[in-house]
Amino acid sequence: MPTSLRDTLTRLPKVELHVHLEGTMLADTLSELARKNGVTPPAPLDEMYRYANLSGFLDVFWFVQSVLQTREDWAMLAYESVLQAASNGVIYREVFFTPARHLRSGMSLADIVAGVDDGMSAGERETGSETRMIYDIDRDFGPSVADEQLEMLLELRRRAAHGIDRVIGIGMDSTERGVDPSVFAPAYRAAKAAGLHRTGHQGEDSPAWAIEIALDVLGCERIDHGISVLEDAALVARLVDEQIPLTVCPTANVVINPDKCVSLDAHAYPAMRAAGLLATLNTDDPALVGLSLGAEYTNVANAYGYGLSTMVQIAHDGVTATWADDDDKRRMHAVIDEVSAELLHAG
Ligand code: ADE
Ligand code: ZN
Repeated sequence: MPTSLRDTLTRLPKVELHVHLEGTMLADTLSELARKNGVTPPAPLDEMYRYANLSGFLDVFWFVQSVLQTREDWAMLAYESVLQAASNGVIYREVFFTPARHLRSGMSLADIVAGVDDGMSAGERETGSETRMIYDIDRDFGPSVADEQLEMLLELRRRAAHGIDRVIGIGMDSTERGVDPSVFAPAYRAAKAAGLHRTGHQGEDSPAWAIEIALDVLGCERIDHGISVLEDAALVARLVDEQIPLTVCPTANVVINPDKCVSLDAHAYPAMRAAGLLATLNTDDPALVGLSLGAEYTNVANAYGYGLSTMVQIAHDGVTATWADDDDKRRMHAVIDEVSAELLHAG
Protein backbone atom coordinates (compact mmCIF):
# COMPACT_ATOMS: atom_id res chain seq x y z
CA MET A 1 0.00 0.00 0.00
CA PRO A 2 1.52 3.39 -0.96
CA THR A 3 1.99 5.63 2.05
CA SER A 4 2.25 9.39 2.34
CA LEU A 5 5.57 11.09 3.05
CA ARG A 6 4.11 12.23 6.38
CA ASP A 7 3.20 8.67 7.34
CA THR A 8 6.61 7.35 6.28
CA LEU A 9 8.50 10.02 8.22
CA THR A 10 6.27 9.56 11.25
CA ARG A 11 7.06 5.84 11.25
CA LEU A 12 10.79 6.40 10.75
CA PRO A 13 12.41 5.79 14.19
CA LYS A 14 13.74 9.09 15.49
CA VAL A 15 15.28 10.69 18.54
CA GLU A 16 14.67 14.19 19.84
CA LEU A 17 17.17 16.33 21.76
CA HIS A 18 15.57 19.76 21.80
CA VAL A 19 12.07 19.70 23.22
CA HIS A 20 10.77 21.47 26.35
CA LEU A 21 8.48 19.33 28.48
CA GLU A 22 6.28 22.35 29.25
CA GLY A 23 6.10 23.09 25.51
CA THR A 24 4.53 19.67 24.90
CA MET A 25 1.46 20.53 26.99
CA LEU A 26 -1.65 20.00 24.88
CA ALA A 27 -4.30 22.75 24.89
CA ASP A 28 -6.85 20.50 26.63
CA THR A 29 -4.39 19.68 29.39
CA LEU A 30 -3.50 23.35 29.77
CA SER A 31 -7.19 24.25 30.15
CA GLU A 32 -7.76 21.42 32.63
CA LEU A 33 -4.78 22.31 34.83
CA ALA A 34 -5.55 26.04 34.64
CA ARG A 35 -9.11 25.37 35.83
CA LYS A 36 -7.99 22.97 38.57
CA ASN A 37 -5.34 25.36 39.88
CA GLY A 38 -7.38 28.56 39.52
CA VAL A 39 -5.16 30.16 36.88
CA THR A 40 -6.82 32.33 34.22
CA PRO A 41 -5.33 32.39 30.70
CA PRO A 42 -4.64 35.98 29.59
CA ALA A 43 -6.38 35.38 26.22
CA PRO A 44 -8.09 32.58 24.25
CA LEU A 45 -5.46 29.98 23.36
CA ASP A 46 -5.63 30.47 19.58
CA GLU A 47 -4.82 34.16 20.13
CA MET A 48 -2.18 33.41 22.75
CA TYR A 49 -0.34 30.98 20.46
CA ARG A 50 0.66 33.70 17.95
CA TYR A 51 4.08 35.21 18.55
CA ALA A 52 5.87 38.34 17.32
CA ASN A 53 9.29 37.39 18.69
CA LEU A 54 11.10 35.25 21.27
CA SER A 55 10.23 37.57 24.12
CA GLY A 56 6.48 37.40 23.30
CA PHE A 57 6.75 33.62 23.08
CA LEU A 58 8.48 33.40 26.45
CA ASP A 59 5.56 35.24 28.10
CA VAL A 60 3.29 32.44 26.87
CA PHE A 61 5.76 29.73 27.87
CA TRP A 62 5.91 31.17 31.39
CA PHE A 63 2.12 31.19 31.57
CA VAL A 64 2.04 27.52 30.53
CA GLN A 65 4.57 26.76 33.28
CA SER A 66 2.36 28.50 35.85
CA VAL A 67 -0.40 25.86 35.59
CA LEU A 68 1.98 23.13 36.85
CA GLN A 69 1.59 23.27 40.62
CA THR A 70 1.77 19.74 42.03
CA ARG A 71 3.80 16.54 41.57
CA GLU A 72 0.72 14.99 39.90
CA ASP A 73 0.47 17.89 37.40
CA TRP A 74 4.06 17.26 36.29
CA ALA A 75 3.38 13.51 36.13
CA MET A 76 0.34 13.95 33.90
CA LEU A 77 2.25 16.25 31.55
CA ALA A 78 5.25 13.90 31.40
CA TYR A 79 3.07 10.85 30.73
CA GLU A 80 1.15 12.54 27.92
CA SER A 81 4.38 13.85 26.45
CA VAL A 82 5.82 10.32 26.14
CA LEU A 83 2.65 9.07 24.45
CA GLN A 84 2.72 11.89 21.90
CA ALA A 85 6.40 11.26 21.19
CA ALA A 86 5.87 7.52 20.76
CA SER A 87 3.02 8.13 18.31
CA ASN A 88 5.52 10.12 16.24
CA GLY A 89 8.05 7.31 15.97
CA VAL A 90 10.29 8.72 18.71
CA ILE A 91 12.36 5.97 20.31
CA TYR A 92 14.44 8.15 22.65
CA ARG A 93 14.38 11.76 23.87
CA GLU A 94 16.42 14.06 26.03
CA VAL A 95 13.83 16.58 27.27
CA PHE A 96 14.31 19.97 28.95
CA PHE A 97 12.44 21.11 32.03
CA THR A 98 12.94 24.61 33.45
CA PRO A 99 11.86 24.74 37.10
CA ALA A 100 13.20 28.21 38.09
CA ARG A 101 9.75 29.80 38.41
CA HIS A 102 8.35 26.89 40.39
CA LEU A 103 11.31 26.83 42.76
CA ARG A 104 11.02 30.59 43.24
CA SER A 105 7.36 30.18 44.20
CA GLY A 106 8.16 27.47 46.73
CA MET A 107 7.60 24.19 44.90
CA SER A 108 10.19 21.55 45.76
CA LEU A 109 12.55 20.30 43.07
CA ALA A 110 12.24 16.83 44.59
CA ASP A 111 8.48 16.84 43.85
CA ILE A 112 8.99 18.10 40.29
CA VAL A 113 11.65 15.48 39.48
CA ALA A 114 9.64 12.72 41.14
CA GLY A 115 6.46 13.72 39.29
CA VAL A 116 8.24 13.85 35.94
CA ASP A 117 9.78 10.46 36.62
CA ASP A 118 6.39 8.97 37.62
CA GLY A 119 4.82 10.13 34.37
CA MET A 120 7.75 9.17 32.18
CA SER A 121 8.07 5.72 33.72
CA ALA A 122 4.36 5.06 33.07
CA GLY A 123 4.69 6.32 29.49
CA GLU A 124 7.80 4.21 28.88
CA ARG A 125 6.14 1.04 30.18
CA GLU A 126 3.23 1.63 27.81
CA THR A 127 5.16 2.60 24.68
CA GLY A 128 8.84 1.60 24.97
CA SER A 129 9.82 5.19 24.02
CA GLU A 130 12.60 6.23 26.41
CA THR A 131 13.20 9.66 27.94
CA ARG A 132 16.01 11.35 29.82
CA MET A 133 15.78 14.82 31.35
CA ILE A 134 17.89 17.96 31.01
CA TYR A 135 17.63 20.50 33.83
CA ASP A 136 17.45 23.92 32.15
CA ILE A 137 18.65 27.07 33.87
CA ASP A 138 16.32 30.00 33.14
CA ARG A 139 18.74 32.76 32.12
CA ASP A 140 16.14 35.38 32.98
CA PHE A 141 16.71 34.79 36.72
CA GLY A 142 20.43 35.60 36.51
CA PRO A 143 23.55 33.74 37.62
CA SER A 144 23.18 33.76 41.41
CA VAL A 145 19.70 32.16 41.27
CA ALA A 146 21.14 29.69 38.74
CA ASP A 147 23.90 28.70 41.19
CA GLU A 148 21.50 28.44 44.12
CA GLN A 149 18.94 26.34 42.25
CA LEU A 150 21.54 24.09 40.64
CA GLU A 151 22.75 23.28 44.13
CA MET A 152 19.25 21.88 44.82
CA LEU A 153 19.69 19.53 41.87
CA LEU A 154 23.12 18.43 43.07
CA GLU A 155 21.69 17.82 46.56
CA LEU A 156 19.03 15.52 45.04
CA ARG A 157 21.83 13.61 43.33
CA ARG A 158 23.72 13.24 46.60
CA ARG A 159 20.52 11.94 48.23
CA ALA A 160 19.77 9.60 45.28
CA ALA A 161 16.27 11.12 45.28
CA HIS A 162 13.38 9.51 43.40
CA GLY A 163 13.78 10.03 39.64
CA ILE A 164 17.06 11.95 39.79
CA ASP A 165 18.93 9.37 37.67
CA ARG A 166 16.75 10.43 34.77
CA VAL A 167 18.36 13.90 34.81
CA ILE A 168 21.56 13.45 32.81
CA GLY A 169 22.56 16.99 31.99
CA ILE A 170 21.98 20.71 32.26
CA GLY A 171 21.17 23.38 29.72
CA MET A 172 19.90 26.96 29.76
CA ASP A 173 17.06 28.61 27.93
CA SER A 174 14.94 31.76 27.91
CA THR A 175 16.21 35.25 26.99
CA GLU A 176 19.41 35.41 24.91
CA ARG A 177 19.52 39.04 23.86
CA GLY A 178 21.68 41.18 26.13
CA VAL A 179 22.83 38.23 28.25
CA ASP A 180 26.53 37.35 28.42
CA PRO A 181 26.52 33.54 28.71
CA SER A 182 29.84 33.51 30.56
CA VAL A 183 28.14 34.70 33.78
CA PHE A 184 26.76 31.16 34.12
CA ALA A 185 30.25 29.61 34.20
CA PRO A 186 30.12 28.69 37.92
CA ALA A 187 26.90 26.69 37.45
CA TYR A 188 28.34 24.90 34.42
CA ARG A 189 31.55 24.12 36.31
CA ALA A 190 29.54 22.66 39.20
CA ALA A 191 27.46 20.55 36.80
CA LYS A 192 30.59 19.21 35.10
CA ALA A 193 32.20 18.37 38.44
CA ALA A 194 29.06 16.39 39.35
CA GLY A 195 29.32 14.35 36.12
CA LEU A 196 26.41 16.00 34.29
CA HIS A 197 26.39 16.65 30.54
CA ARG A 198 26.13 20.26 29.36
CA THR A 199 24.29 22.05 26.57
CA GLY A 200 22.79 25.52 26.12
CA HIS A 201 20.37 27.53 23.99
CA GLN A 202 22.50 29.93 21.99
CA GLY A 203 22.41 31.47 18.53
CA GLU A 204 18.59 31.52 18.37
CA ASP A 205 18.52 35.23 19.22
CA SER A 206 22.23 35.93 19.80
CA PRO A 207 25.28 36.26 17.54
CA ALA A 208 27.94 33.66 16.76
CA TRP A 209 30.33 34.92 19.45
CA ALA A 210 27.81 33.82 22.11
CA ILE A 211 28.00 30.26 20.70
CA GLU A 212 31.77 30.39 21.06
CA ILE A 213 31.44 31.43 24.71
CA ALA A 214 28.99 28.60 25.36
CA LEU A 215 31.59 26.16 24.00
CA ASP A 216 34.78 27.63 25.42
CA VAL A 217 33.70 29.17 28.72
CA LEU A 218 30.71 27.00 29.67
CA GLY A 219 32.06 23.77 28.17
CA CYS A 220 28.84 22.94 26.29
CA GLU A 221 28.96 19.63 24.43
CA ARG A 222 26.04 20.63 22.19
CA ILE A 223 24.40 23.90 21.19
CA ASP A 224 20.61 24.28 21.09
CA HIS A 225 19.52 26.17 17.95
CA GLY A 226 22.93 27.59 16.97
CA ILE A 227 21.58 29.09 13.76
CA SER A 228 23.76 32.22 13.94
CA VAL A 229 26.87 30.02 13.59
CA LEU A 230 26.75 30.71 9.86
CA GLU A 231 27.86 34.32 10.57
CA ASP A 232 31.34 33.01 11.40
CA ALA A 233 33.12 30.79 8.86
CA ALA A 234 35.91 29.85 11.28
CA LEU A 235 33.38 28.74 13.91
CA VAL A 236 31.51 26.67 11.30
CA ALA A 237 34.80 24.99 10.33
CA ARG A 238 35.50 24.18 13.98
CA LEU A 239 32.03 22.74 14.64
CA VAL A 240 32.28 20.64 11.48
CA ASP A 241 35.75 19.43 12.41
CA GLU A 242 34.79 18.54 15.99
CA GLN A 243 31.28 17.38 14.96
CA ILE A 244 29.74 19.38 17.81
CA PRO A 245 25.98 18.80 17.52
CA LEU A 246 23.46 21.57 16.97
CA THR A 247 19.86 20.85 17.91
CA VAL A 248 17.99 22.86 15.31
CA CYS A 249 14.23 23.61 15.30
CA PRO A 250 13.38 25.23 11.93
CA THR A 251 9.57 25.41 12.13
CA ALA A 252 9.64 26.55 15.76
CA ASN A 253 12.10 29.33 14.82
CA VAL A 254 9.70 30.56 12.12
CA VAL A 255 6.65 30.44 14.42
CA ILE A 256 8.34 31.78 17.58
CA ASN A 257 10.67 34.36 16.10
CA PRO A 258 9.17 35.60 12.80
CA ASP A 259 11.12 38.84 13.24
CA LYS A 260 14.30 36.89 12.58
CA CYS A 261 13.14 33.78 10.66
CA VAL A 262 10.62 34.80 8.05
CA SER A 263 10.02 31.37 6.49
CA LEU A 264 11.32 27.81 6.27
CA ASP A 265 12.65 28.67 2.81
CA ALA A 266 14.81 31.39 4.34
CA HIS A 267 15.95 29.24 7.30
CA ALA A 268 19.63 28.40 7.83
CA TYR A 269 19.01 24.63 8.17
CA PRO A 270 19.85 23.52 4.60
CA ALA A 271 22.99 25.70 4.60
CA MET A 272 24.01 24.20 7.95
CA ARG A 273 23.61 20.64 6.60
CA ALA A 274 25.39 21.54 3.36
CA ALA A 275 28.32 22.91 5.38
CA GLY A 276 28.72 19.51 7.06
CA LEU A 277 27.45 20.59 10.51
CA LEU A 278 25.89 17.90 12.70
CA ALA A 279 22.55 19.75 12.56
CA THR A 280 19.84 17.59 14.11
CA LEU A 281 16.10 18.15 13.72
CA ASN A 282 13.76 18.94 16.62
CA THR A 283 10.44 20.60 17.55
CA ASP A 284 11.34 22.82 20.58
CA ASP A 285 7.78 23.43 21.85
CA PRO A 286 5.52 21.27 19.67
CA ALA A 287 2.17 21.97 21.38
CA LEU A 288 2.79 25.73 21.43
CA VAL A 289 3.76 25.94 17.76
CA GLY A 290 1.28 23.39 16.34
CA LEU A 291 3.91 20.79 15.52
CA SER A 292 5.03 17.17 16.00
CA LEU A 293 8.33 15.54 15.12
CA GLY A 294 6.73 13.59 12.23
CA ALA A 295 5.37 16.88 10.87
CA GLU A 296 8.76 18.59 11.30
CA TYR A 297 10.57 15.88 9.31
CA THR A 298 7.90 16.28 6.61
CA ASN A 299 8.14 20.10 6.60
CA VAL A 300 11.91 19.92 6.18
CA ALA A 301 11.80 17.22 3.47
CA ASN A 302 9.28 19.27 1.49
CA ALA A 303 10.93 22.66 2.03
CA TYR A 304 14.45 21.56 1.04
CA GLY A 305 13.66 18.75 -1.40
CA TYR A 306 15.31 16.11 0.81
CA GLY A 307 14.64 12.48 -0.15
CA LEU A 308 14.10 9.62 2.27
CA SER A 309 17.80 8.75 2.45
CA THR A 310 18.64 12.29 3.64
CA MET A 311 15.88 12.12 6.25
CA VAL A 312 17.24 8.75 7.43
CA GLN A 313 20.69 10.33 7.73
CA ILE A 314 19.18 13.16 9.82
CA ALA A 315 17.63 10.52 12.11
CA HIS A 316 21.04 8.80 12.47
CA ASP A 317 22.70 12.16 13.19
CA GLY A 318 20.23 12.65 16.04
CA VAL A 319 21.38 9.36 17.58
CA THR A 320 25.04 10.34 17.17
CA ALA A 321 24.29 13.59 19.03
CA THR A 322 22.61 11.93 22.04
CA TRP A 323 24.24 11.43 25.40
CA ALA A 324 23.28 7.75 25.36
CA ASP A 325 26.09 5.22 25.85
CA ASP A 326 27.70 3.48 22.87
CA ASP A 327 25.65 0.26 23.20
CA ASP A 328 22.39 2.20 23.23
CA LYS A 329 23.53 4.29 20.28
CA ARG A 330 24.38 1.13 18.30
CA ARG A 331 20.97 -0.32 19.14
CA MET A 332 19.17 2.87 18.01
CA HIS A 333 21.19 3.09 14.76
CA ALA A 334 20.25 -0.54 14.07
CA VAL A 335 16.54 0.14 14.65
CA ILE A 336 16.68 3.08 12.21
CA ASP A 337 18.48 0.92 9.62
CA GLU A 338 16.00 -1.91 9.94
CA VAL A 339 12.82 0.17 9.77
CA SER A 340 14.09 2.57 7.10
CA ALA A 341 14.96 -0.41 4.87
CA GLU A 342 11.34 -1.56 5.16
CA LEU A 343 10.07 1.98 4.50
CA LEU A 344 12.32 2.34 1.43
CA HIS A 345 11.11 -1.00 0.15
CA ALA A 346 7.44 -0.06 0.72
CA GLY A 347 7.90 3.30 -1.03
N1 ADE B 1 11.96 28.01 26.31
C1 ADE B 1 11.10 27.27 25.61
N2 ADE B 1 11.33 27.40 24.30
C2 ADE B 1 12.36 28.25 24.17
C3 ADE B 1 13.07 28.76 23.07
N3 ADE B 1 12.77 28.45 21.82
N4 ADE B 1 14.07 29.62 23.30
C4 ADE B 1 14.40 29.96 24.55
N5 ADE B 1 13.78 29.50 25.62
C5 ADE B 1 12.77 28.64 25.44
ZN1 ZN C 1 14.32 25.45 23.11
